[in-house]
Amino acid sequence: MTVQDNSPESVSFDSYRQLLSRYERLLEISRQLNSTLDLGTLLNLITGAATELTDTEEASILLIDPSSGELRFEAASNMTPGMMAAIPVPMSGSIGGWVATHGEILIVEDASQDSRWFGNVDKTIQFETRNLIAVPMKAHNRVIGVLEAVNRRDNQPWTKDHINTLVALANQAAIAIQNTRLFQQSDFIAEMVHELRTPLAALRASTALLLRPKLPDDRRQDIIVTMQEETERLTAMTTAFLDLARLESGRTRLEMEVFGIFRLIAECVEVVAPQASERGIQIEVIGENHETEADWNKIKQVMLNLLTNAIKYNRENGHIYCRVELCEDTGDCSPEHMLLSVQDTGYGISKEDQPHIFDKFYRVADMAGYTTGTGLGLSIAFRIVQAHGCEMTVTSEVDVGTTFSFTLPLAERAPEHPMPGSMELTPRE
Ligand SMILES: Nc1ncnc2c1ncn2[C@@H]1O[C@H](COP(=O)(O)OP(=O)(O)OP(=O)(O)O)[C@@H](O)[C@H]1O
Ligand SMILES: [Mg+2]
Repeated sequence: MTVQDNSPESVSFDSYRQLLSRYERLLEISRQLNSTLDLGTLLNLITGAATELTDTEEASILLIDPSSGELRFEAASNMTPGMMAAIPVPMSGSIGGWVATHGEILIVEDASQDSRWFGNVDKTIQFETRNLIAVPMKAHNRVIGVLEAVNRRDNQPWTKDHINTLVALANQAAIAIQNTRLFQQSDFIAEMVHELRTPLAALRASTALLLRPKLPDDRRQDIIVTMQEETERLTAMTTAFLDLARLESGRTRLEMEVFGIFRLIAECVEVVAPQASERGIQIEVIGENHETEADWNKIKQVMLNLLTNAIKYNRENGHIYCRVELCEDTGDCSPEHMLLSVQDTGYGISKEDQPHIFDKFYRVADMAGYTTGTGLGLSIAFRIVQAHGCEMTVTSEVDVGTTFSFTLPLAERAPEHPMPGSMELTPRE
C-alpha cells in the first residue's frame, strides 16, 4: 500500500489550501446529507460526493441487509439497479466483505492482484477496476456497509487526505442512512396503525353485536360474513404493509431470471379469468413474446395488480388489452427495454387524481365505496418496477378508460420459444 504523506507539516501552502477547500466541501455535503430523508437520493448523493472528494472515476455503496446479514450493492455510479440486484457480494471472498467483517480501511493498488478481489462484478458490468479504497460505514459503532471509491483519475497513489475525507464522508453517510431508515419506519408505522383501525373497529363492533341475546339467525349470518371480509382485508393489508416496508427500506432482494413475458402474462390472465368472466370482461393479449431478465414473482405481482384493477374499475362487459411492445418501436422508452401496458375501458382517473395514484393508501374517493382494496397495490407495483431500474406511468381519460404502462429490460438472449403474435381470452361460461 502506498500512501502519500499529506500531513500539515509536510504540505505546501497550496496543498494546504486545497485540503481546506476539500474539508469545506465535506461540510457542505454533510449538510446536504442531513437534509434528505429519501434513501435513494441520499445514496446517490454519497456516491457523487465520494468520486468528487477522492477524484475517482466511480464509487459504490454496499449495505449489510439487516435481516439476512448479506452484503448488497445499494448504489453505484456505474451500475443500474437491475445489475446491482443481480450481483450478490459474498462476505468472504470479496473486498467489500473483508472491510465489512474487519471494520477496517482497505487500500488496493492493483485489484487484479488482490486475493480478496471479487472479479464477478467487473465481468458482469464490463468495467475494469484498477485500484480502490474501501472504508467501513459505521453508525453507533456498528458497521452497516462499505463505501468504495474506484480508479484514481490521475493514477497517482492515494493521499492521506483522500483516505481521511472518505472516512469522514462514510461516517456522516452511515448516520444519515440510519436516520432515513428510522424516519421511514416511524412514518410508515404511524400510517399503518391508522389504516388498521378501520377493519379492527368493524370487527369489534361485530363481536359486540354477536354477543347480544336473541339475535335473529339471518342477522347473525350477515355479521359473520362482515367479520370474514374484514379479516381478509386485515390479512391483505398486513401482507401489503410488509411488502411495501421491505421495498421502501431497500431490503427487497430481486431474484433475477430470464423468461418469456408471454408465459408470465398467460399465468396472470389465468388467475384473474374467473373474476373477469363474472363481470363479462374480455382480456386480450396483443404483441409479440420477448424475453426479459427480471424477478418473476415480483413482476407477476405487478401484472396481477394491474389486471385486478382493470377488472375492478372497469364497466360490466368491458375490455382489457394487455400489450407487449418494443421500446425501440414505440420510441417512448429506452431501446433496450420492452413496454408492457394494461388498458381498460373503465371509469378512468381524473387529472387531479392521476398525480397521486402511486401514493401509499391513495384511493379515488368515488370508487372507494364500491370496491374494496388497501390502496397499496399500485405503490407496491411502482416500487417493484423502480427496483428493476424501470418506470411505470399512467394515462387516463374519465369515462373512456385507463392505461398503466411499465418497462422491463430485454434479455440479451433471443427468445427460446417464440410464441404466437396474439392470444385471446374470452370469459368462461
Ligand atoms: N384501472 C383503473 N381505473 C380506474 N381507477 C383505478 C385503476 N387502477 C387503480 N385505480 C384507482 O387507484 C386506487 C389505488 O389503486 P391500488 O391498486 O393501489 O389500490 P386498490 O386497488 O384500492 O387496493 P389493492 O390493490 O390493495 O386491492 C384505486 O383505489 C382506484 O381508485
Ligand atoms: Mg389494486
